Amino acid sequence: MFSLKGKKAIVTGAAQGLGKEMARALHAAGAEVVILDVSDLGKEAARELGKEDAKVHFVKGNLLDRENLISSFKEAVEKLEGRVDILLNSAGVIERKRAMDLSLESWDRILEINVSAVFQLSCLAADIMINQGSGKIINMGSILSFLGGYNAAAYSTSKGAIAQLTKSLSNEWAGHGIQVNAIAPGYMSTSMNADIKNDEVRTPQINARIPAGRWGTPEDVAGVAIFLASAASDYVTGVVIPVDGGVLGR
Ligand SMILES: NC(=O)c1ccc[n+]([C@@H]2O[C@H](COP(=O)([O-])OP(=O)(O)OC[C@H]3O[C@@H](n4cnc5c(N)ncnc54)[C@H](O)[C@@H]3O)[C@@H](O)[C@H]2O)c1
Repeated sequence: MFSLKGKKAIVTGAAQGLGKEMARALHAAGAEVVILDVSDLGKEAARELGKEDAKVHFVKGNLLDRENLISSFKEAVEKLEGRVDILLNSAGVIERKRAMDLSLESWDRILEINVSAVFQLSCLAADIMINQGSGKIINMGSILSFLGGYNAAAYSTSKGAIAQLTKSLSNEWAGHGIQVNAIAPGYMSTSMNADIKNDEVRTPQINARIPAGRWGTPEDVAGVAIFLASAASDYVTGVVIPVDGGVLGR
């Protein structure tokens, strides 16, 4: 039920962090994977992960550039020989600043990578998945899909939008055998949080809010990614699943 043998997946932002760990999990479950990332670390990640039967490829692509997004997506599809069973949109960026210190350029960049690129990639993938009659699209929300956050106005706006986009695309494509869902991680130990992880003021405040008593790890999101990528979730669509050690329930 959880096997991904023979499945083909594109994972954006998988050069490092949560994306890399989810790409590792999909591959370990049997999928052939393309890592699509702007960072050259993706090449090393593909080499590191691609030790089993199925291949792991790297395609360099900048999701800030709409033309490059299309050409890198096409390159990824070519590597997968025309089939896309799973699109996992993990690439994302944050800037922690007071709203009045956040430039409009930063606002546009965050919304472009975190929302518009997810929309564009999802449509490109759905075009293929509708012809296949099946597909899984997995987006990365956040606890800030639900909460307003602090000093992260553009980021929480983008993650709120991801929750709505996930439901909206699910409504359109569920009848074509495509499930569109999102994962909403809490406080995870990745480079995205390096600045607040060691902040004398913020770290104790955050720690006190996590019922599980610890920050999440990239491994903590891997199981949910496999669930949402596999036949186990064929009747699950349009939902945002928190993986947050209990933060939202507090
Ligand atoms: N780390 C957390 O605590 C946390 C919490 C909630 C949600 N998330 C979400 O999970 C996802 C992954 O986060 P992470 O912690 O792994 O982040 P990360 O910073 O470790 O990795 C992000 C990846 O996205 C890639 N990327 C950035 N801009 C890109 C662009 N223009 N084109 C292509 N690739 C680009 C980076 O190169 C990097 O490999 C993001 O969407 C993030 O918002 C993370």
